[in-house]
Amino acid sequence: MPRQFFVGGNFKMNPSTREQKKDIVKILNDADVDPNTEVVIAPPTLYVLSLADILRKDFKVAAQNAYIKNSGAFTGEISPAQLADAGVPYVILGHSERRTLFRETSELVAQKTRAAIDAGLSAILCIGETLEEREAGKCTQIIETQLQAVVRVTKEANWSKIVIAYEPVWAIGTGKVATTAQAQEAHGDIRKFLHRVVSPAVAESTRVIYGGSVSAGNCGELAKQPDVDGFLVGGASLKPEFVNIINSRR
Ligand code: G3P
Repeated sequence: MPRQFFVGGNFKMNPSTREQKKDIVKILNDADVDPNTEVVIAPPTLYVLSLADILRKDFKVAAQNAYIKNSGAFTGEISPAQLADAGVPYVILGHSERRTLFRETSELVAQKTRAAIDAGLSAILCIGETLEEREAGKCTQIIETQLQAVVRVTKEANWSKIVIAYEPVWAIGTGKVATTAQAQEAHGDIRKFLHRVVSPAVAESTRVIYGGSVSAGNCGELAKQPDVDGFLVGGASLKPEFVNIINSRR
């Protein structure tokens, strides 16, 4: 079965006002989009439910993070069970901003992934190397280490609940998108790794999407790569060009 194209909009800590949120939703709701693409919007947690209320129903929402526990004395955290209970289907985990700024290790990200799946959520699992790691020839090694932590705690059947987002850190928010060859190579490596350590079926069916300076201008060529199954979009997801990115396979 072909992998369904997936486009996620990661709003990060934007927009700053509820009014701006409505403007973005209007653009999305009015757009003519490819019905074959799964679209998932991840606003700040504060806006997830209100955005879901006004967003077209063929789009889904996601949280940008969740904790490893379902309840308890964890001030400031949000639990996977709470998200599931609120009808939120997806959560982004392991984004490089969380790994770097909030010191999340691959082990913590793996625990979060497991907790999310156990609660009934699907995870958009972000992985990717820094420029320094790429220049040192460690790209594959870094990606495999980040994935291995998740492999250790995930049953084969649960890989259908994971979308892997390959986001090279040097491409995030920099305007320096990976070349089609770099993206295809990394995505192919991820698939080979899944084939080797999980199963050929999981390697074949798991969606591997690309993130990092995706724009209306570069999405078309990237989307043609055989192992690029969609995008996780930051900055451009707040702009009208996000519609072009959703439609990049059209
Ligand atoms: O999660 C998406 C992201 O990190 C990419 O951000 O702004 O480079 O599209 P951006």
